Amino acid sequence: MKTLLALSISTLLAASPLLSNSAIAVTPAPYIHTQFNVTESLQQADLLVVLVPQDSGELRLAGWDRATRNHINRAINIAAFSGQAGSQLEIVAPVGLNYGRLLLLGVGNAAELSRASAEEMGASLSQWVNGTQADTVHVHSQLIANANDNHRITAALSHGVELRNYRFDRYKSTPDARPAQRYSWQVALATDARAKFEQKQALAQGVFTARELTNLPGSDGYPEAFARYAKTVLEPLGVEVTILGPEQVKALGMGSLYGVSQGSHMKAHLLVARWRGADDEAPIALVGKGNSFDTGGYNLKTQAASILRMHTDKAGGAAVVGAVKALAGQKAPVHVVGVVPLSINMISGDAYLPGDVVTAGDGTTIEVGNTDAEGRLILADGIWYAREHLNARVIADIATLTGAKVGALGNAYSAIFTKHAAIENTLREAGELVEERVWPLPLDGYEGIVRSRIADRINTGSPGAQAGAIFLQHFAGETPWVHIDMAGEAFTASASGIHPEGSTGHGVRLLTEWVKLYQAQHQ
Ligand code: BES
Ligand code: ZN
Ligand code: MN
Repeated sequence: MKTLLALSISTLLAASPLLSNSAIAVTPAPYIHTQFNVTESLQQADLLVVLVPQDSGELRLAGWDRATRNHINRAINIAAFSGQAGSQLEIVAPVGLNYGRLLLLGVGNAAELSRASAEEMGASLSQWVNGTQADTVHVHSQLIANANDNHRITAALSHGVELRNYRFDRYKSTPDARPAQRYSWQVALATDARAKFEQKQALAQGVFTARELTNLPGSDGYPEAFARYAKTVLEPLGVEVTILGPEQVKALGMGSLYGVSQGSHMKAHLLVARWRGADDEAPIALVGKGNSFDTGGYNLKTQAASILRMHTDKAGGAAVVGAVKALAGQKAPVHVVGVVPLSINMISGDAYLPGDVVTAGDGTTIEVGNTDAEGRLILADGIWYAREHLNARVIADIATLTGAKVGALGNAYSAIFTKHAAIENTLREAGELVEERVWPLPLDGYEGIVRSRIADRINTGSPGAQAGAIFLQHFAGETPWVHIDMAGEAFTASASGIHPEGSTGHGVRLLTEWVKLYQAQHQ
């Protein structure tokens, strides 16, 4: 009788059109704000941007007559513009040119300009362009003579422009106009450059997907909506997407994942997204925490500030979806599988309780020392699924897991935990490349901290960030594994650099570059 009743209620709930969140269709927003056009020769536009290496001397560009040269070089002298990296000199109505404004943008020593600095410069360029009325922008890069530097820098600048121009405006009745300028890049050997620009655009598309998913409010980005959204954006790129619903999650024994959402009608899901860009039998697995909202559960987050931004608790899962999207968009020669355990941590008469024992897919019994340590509960099953059902050859999990990590590193670094030097080194390299830095914290010496009196292990322990990592380590078994704690990196209250305000999409670029580096070293 009891089971019957429970069944009929859940059937009713599932079918009810009155549930607010299932009534809102979460469809992907169009993200392309700027158009790119790689050309070798430019005609006229509203703006001309000239990239100027340090100490270029007198500027003379093809097509500049004497009056133009005099005007521009006089301005350069008066403003003492030397081409230092990041410096800008704006010249309105340049004499003799078909451009309303000219911006000289210093790139310093081109060979030494890092990808991350060039991206930042692109972000500030986009801000400057957005402050004008311009529709068309030409960027002249041929003073950067070395073709490799030329392509590297212009592609990174364009990436910075794109990343900063993302807007989350789906809830505005009358959104502000999105930046929609047409940028044309005059580069050395446009044919070679095009591929580089396209790779960067695919990467930006991955970041946009992650930002959009992370920005969704908890009630709209609930497990099933998240999974469907991911499927919608991934399948057109040739990614195989499988969504396990709550019944399948339960049937496969993933009681740890299931338990976190059991108090909500928005039940657990598991998203699996596979990009087969290489013939390797065993994939590289990325496992991301997809907790649509973290109330804390019965260990309720009682401070307004601690609960407010917890819709961003799906940022790890969003980063995984974004990375798979980027890799597929880039047609990267890797076999990668993204796994996102999806939950919502809520209270109700059915919710899991402090002290409950849940059983994970691998049979491990887990004492719930704190319902607010839900991330490791869902990841435990996600990691196990990647190892046991997907035969992963290496596993990286990424999550907004602990406040303790924020205390230790703030948001300048994510914490990483691994016993594998090759994973650590490639992750650090990837992190430096895209300026999503990681810093290792130790696992050795903490084995005992998640011991439970009544079950196989407990989901709490001290120190907090290590407890999360040690807890997860077990579920990777013998498979090489790393845990990335990105708590603090998912959201920025105000725009800065390549990030508009809101979700950052942190982790997409880190994981995308890491997968390619790791693949290159471990065929
Ligand atoms: N999602 C939080 C971690 C978090 C905190 C992310 C701040 C971003 C910003 C996580 O689920 C959590 O609540 N962790 C607890 C664990 C504790 C109860 C063992 C924490 O770190 O306080
Ligand atoms: Zn959480
Ligand atoms: Mn929590």
